[in-house]
Amino acid sequence: MSANNETKLTLDKLVSLCQRRGFIFPSSDIYGGLSGCWDFGPVGVELMRNVKAAWWRSVVQERDDMVGIDTSILMNPKVWEASGHITNFSDPLVECKNCHLRWKADDLKENKCPSCGGELTEERMFNTMFKTFVGPVEEDAAVVYLRPETAQGMFVNFQNVLNTSRKRLPFGIAQQGKAFRNEITTGNFIFRSREFELMEFEFFIKPGTQDRWFEYWVNERYEWYQKLGIKKDHLKLHHKKKEELAHYALACTDIEFSFPMGWGELEGVASRSDYDLTQHANASGKSMEYFDDETKEHYVPYVVEPSVGAGRAILAFLCDAYDEEPDKDETRVVFHFHPDIAPIKVAVLPLSRKENLAAFAKDVYSKLRPAFATQYDDTQSIGRRYRRQDELGTPYCVTVDFQSLEDNMATIRERDSMNQIRVPIAVLKNTLLAKLAGEDIMALPEGGKVWKQESGGQV
Ligand code: GAP
Repeated sequence: MSANNETKLTLDKLVSLCQRRGFIFPSSDIYGGLSGCWDFGPVGVELMRNVKAAWWRSVVQERDDMVGIDTSILMNPKVWEASGHITNFSDPLVECKNCHLRWKADDLKENKCPSCGGELTEERMFNTMFKTFVGPVEEDAAVVYLRPETAQGMFVNFQNVLNTSRKRLPFGIAQQGKAFRNEITTGNFIFRSREFELMEFEFFIKPGTQDRWFEYWVNERYEWYQKLGIKKDHLKLHHKKKEELAHYALACTDIEFSFPMGWGELEGVASRSDYDLTQHANASGKSMEYFDDETKEHYVPYVVEPSVGAGRAILAFLCDAYDEEPDKDETRVVFHFHPDIAPIKVAVLPLSRKENLAAFAKDVYSKLRPAFATQYDDTQSIGRRYRRQDELGTPYCVTVDFQSLEDNMATIRERDSMNQIRVPIAVLKNTLLAKLAGEDIMALPEGGKVWKQESGGQV
């Protein structure tokens, strides 16, 4: 059973809220969509950028032993021969003899068509890489593939990065970017798409140290989700058995999340040995060896690779942040996003549209905007505007009222507690910055005072 049953969150509910609030739309919506493809709307794109930035900060910017890279989507097809993708990147496909729908055999519980109950064909392997052509002639010699993972761009650049970055082992190369898989079946919203954004890195290590580094990275990545607000009991580790491992893996642990449709893989951490570098060395004739200055040995490094789809991570963040809370006679729908990933950090809400107040509120807005993603909203009642911001997961609303014109103060309303404090506009930006960085709510700046306290709220 999914842990999200607590909030009665269904995927249908989430899909509809995401569409209504501008998070995620079906691709080519006006033409009926394209299965397995999704568009991120004005709010969703901010969430996507924040999730990618949080990952990049954590695995690249805050570390001495990692560098980033951005490689092309189209690569020489020899890459995919050497990596084993042309032979092995396949799923077992069966077709219904009656309605001709196609299914991934692994997903079926019974040996009959889930749609019409018809008899199924024998399994055959279906390669899930998308093919296209370079240049104007559609011939076999011009076939290239849309990359199904970003990993190979990092392996083939191993020597380039080593020679230019002056890194010594252990060190990693990280990359984020689009990947494409012609999945036999898609579904569960953005969980399994045909076009998606990957965030992965290859951590190069001395052979023999792989178990220690594997354990280290499983733990680091498991902790990362929790630092960004995912509840510990909504995560679990699935250590794969030998028969479940991909063709290149010595070991693999999936970090699983309790999605509304059940537990599912969120991120895979794989111990890939020297498989990829050795394959590329053999196929290209270029050395992939590393010279260890300390031991004076030459060897091909081993690799540990954590890999996650940004869309799948976003689905987990959306599900975990979602809540329905009783509020007087109504239900408040709110996303309790961690401030680092919240799409909008602050909303400025003038209590009225009257000219003098609007000008004052716009001035406040223009002062906050350079510091964080800020929205200005002067439509409908203040209650409705708070609800709208709750549904966007905005951590703080700043309300400006007629009193503000007199005392130069504004009210900050906190999303999670709904507590309100009144602070001088002169310190508004710094107060919000401190709060967004997680500083104690009691740490009010000089001159700040409690304006209103909701029952039980400590402000
Ligand atoms: N380089 C290793 C690799 O690509 P993978 O297990 O095939 O490994 C890694 O994929 C991650 O990418 C998965 O854990 C999942 O988060 C995400 N992912 C894989 N296929 C996906 C799809 N069709 N749609 C969305 N995300 C996907």
